[in-house]
Amino acid sequence: QADLKSKLLDINKEAAKYFYYQLKTPGGKIALDYLQNRQLSEETIKQFGLGYSNKFSDDLYRYLRGLGYDDSTLKESGLITMDEKKGVFDKFWNRVMFPIMDVNNKVIGFGGRVMGDGLPKYLNSPETKLFDKSRNLYGLNFARISRKKNILICEGYMDVIALHQAGFTNAVASLGTAFTGLQANLLKRYTDEVLITYDSDEAGTKAALRAIPILKAAGLSTKVIDMRPYKDPDEFIKALGAEEFQKRIEEARNSFYFEIDVLEKNYDLSDPEHKTKFYNEIGKKLLVFTEEIERNNYIEAIANRYNIGFDNLRKLVNRYGARLI
Ligand code: CTP
Ligand code: MN
Ligand code: MN
Ligand code: MN
Ligand code: MN
Repeated sequence: QADLKSKLLDINKEAAKYFYYQLKTPGGKIALDYLQNRQLSEETIKQFGLGYSNKFSDDLYRYLRGLGYDDSTLKESGLITMDEKKGVFDKFWNRVMFPIMDVNNKVIGFGGRVMGDGLPKYLNSPETKLFDKSRNLYGLNFARISRKKNILICEGYMDVIALHQAGFTNAVASLGTAFTGLQANLLKRYTDEVLITYDSDEAGTKAALRAIPILKAAGLSTKVIDMRPYKDPDEFIKALGAEEFQKRIEEARNSFYFEIDVLEKNYDLSDPEHKTKFYNEIGKKLLVFTEEIERNNYIEAIANRYNIGFDNLRKLVNRYGARLI
């Protein structure tokens, strides 16, 4: 088992080198152009070990066989697909490649992006003996060397890379999958504060709402960065640059206010009935603060903001609290 794992690590390393080398071949120019069009520097491409899986359907397989790896080991790597009828194929075909590393800089899997509008946009390594998505964060191997006190958690490969290139070397990504408690605990080893930097679309907002309680449960202070009117940090930085992004970091909002803002969108506050329901929802939500001073501080802030009156809102909260007992 230990032997298999170390072989799989070697295979991934060889594959990453192979993909990287392909960028320099005539066939790989299309991928290099793609990365350059996305404004990645040569240095960034090298740091993140980006590469290209070419248009030949089994050349990686033959290359790895040539290095002495047998079929059953190659199958376990997730890089090669073996089908009794269809034969043997490289899993990644004509895609820009992103090696996924663990905190020890070991390549544990890959993501591959189509260069046009094809689907799926990203193809990822399957779970293998090495690769467990729920336990890893993309970019953490580079982020931990940063002395910054907080960590930016974003959605995707390009977000992390664009942020690092712009000097925000404290960015990591959960890679589109649901953020897990294991990932939160991993972050807690490096920081006490997390800034959620998810996409500003509906999927990103929902993902943020799901991540907030998980981060809080791990004891992490949590804020949310507003990316609007841009969709994600990569697009934001391309449009407005690093200085403007730094401002957004400084303006990051307490995650409770973010939750209230999202909730507010479901109600028409000019309608008394809606307004009543909304206030009641706020009253329930305020119960997450179990410590009296903290709860009162939030009650005060929210009451001021919506002109509810501190005593009114506190009564409402206490009423919900009493129901729980
Ligand atoms: N993702 C995935 N498979 C998909 C779509 C997305 O694994 N079919 C993951 C990728 O890790 C991706 C992240 O979810 O980076 C966020 O998805 P999305 O916002 O759609 O992509 P971007 O990262 O913005 O990709 P790009 O900028 O290259 O379009
Ligand atoms: Mn190939
Ligand atoms: Mn997204
Ligand atoms: Mn993007
Ligand atoms: Mn995105």
